[in-house]
Amino acid sequence: MAPIPQFDLNDGTKIPAVGLGCWMGNVEGAPRAYEMCIKALKAGYRHFDTASGYENEKEVGRAIRESGIPRKDIFITTKIPNPGHHNVKGEFEQSLKELDCEYIDLLLMHWPMANVMGPDGVNFVPRPDESPTYIETWKDMEKLLETGKVKSIGVSNFGAPLIEKLIPHCKVIPSNNQIECHPCLPQKDIRDVCAKYGITVTAYSPLGRGPVLMGNETINEVAKELNVTPAQVCLSWAVQQNVIVVPKSENKDRLAANLNIVTLSAEQMERVSSIHKEPGMHKSLLKYHVDGEVFGWTHEQLGWNMSSDGTVPK
Ligand SMILES: NC(=O)c1ccc[n+]([C@@H]2O[C@H](COP(=O)([O-])OP(=O)(O)OC[C@H]3O[C@@H](n4cnc5c(N)ncnc54)[C@H](OP(=O)(O)O)[C@@H]3O)[C@@H](O)[C@H]2O)c1
Repeated sequence: MAPIPQFDLNDGTKIPAVGLGCWMGNVEGAPRAYEMCIKALKAGYRHFDTASGYENEKEVGRAIRESGIPRKDIFITTKIPNPGHHNVKGEFEQSLKELDCEYIDLLLMHWPMANVMGPDGVNFVPRPDESPTYIETWKDMEKLLETGKVKSIGVSNFGAPLIEKLIPHCKVIPSNNQIECHPCLPQKDIRDVCAKYGITVTAYSPLGRGPVLMGNETINEVAKELNVTPAQVCLSWAVQQNVIVVPKSENKDRLAANLNIVTLSAEQMERVSSIHKEPGMHKSLLKYHVDGEVFGWTHEQLGWNMSSDGTVPK
């Protein structure tokens, strides 16, 4: 197996360019995360992407501890959930307790919007200008660095305009923005703004959760040329553009293959990069998009350049 490439975060920390996505598709799947992480550690994974919202930090942490691999050789990312924006310190301490792993390598704000319990006992999503704003939440995350128990902080699901709005308020520039990214949604505008500020990008759902990309003709052609799987083409295409990937798999063979990054020729890169230009192909492959909103904010409020159904306008 080729060695896993390592990228540099803007604070000097190194991050393995391939990690294991630990979202099991629903919170009921959390117990399976333990077995998945055990298999992944055996396959050579050293970077794990979980979140408080996945409700499996305990299983991920237990697998890592039981592996006996030194803590310093493992990179753990977790995320502050939307209902935790007003209680960043408490949420962080809870994650640390669940993971039971001494420190967290990378803590992300999972989404820019908060979720707050109203006086009537019903939860609501504050507008971008209502407290707790993502700027307030970020300032609370910056304070956590003083504890020494989190090495790096970053954001997730931030569109390019939100990065631009956040930067002037930062004492610490985010080290990472985790976003949906794959050949149907290359996210060039967000990657460009992140590069401008030295923010690395992690691609979530880098396989687009399966069928559309795995069945794509161009991806299959390139896979055949390189004698690799379609998934390896998607992951290698991203890593070759300095994008970190966190594919999820519970299957031993797919876990091993996904870790094996190969080199695409310039011509193969161009072919994969052109997939989104085909009619109807430039789009999110997730089911978040309900009437132009994602978890209570419009695409515009998120700074996402998308139509109401998750397709990207020309
Ligand atoms: N920050 C955020 O808001 C956010 C949002 C979504 C996801 N994420 C993170 O990103 C991670 C990955 O995203 P995802 O789970 O949505 O989707 P994904 O990694 O794009 O796709 C996972 C799906 O692809 C299958 N698969 C894995 N390897 C394969 C291969 N080599 N060939 C064919 N199929 C393969 C998996 O099935 P098997 O398990 O059966 O192999 C699973 O059904 C998540 O686990 C989570 O950590 C973050």
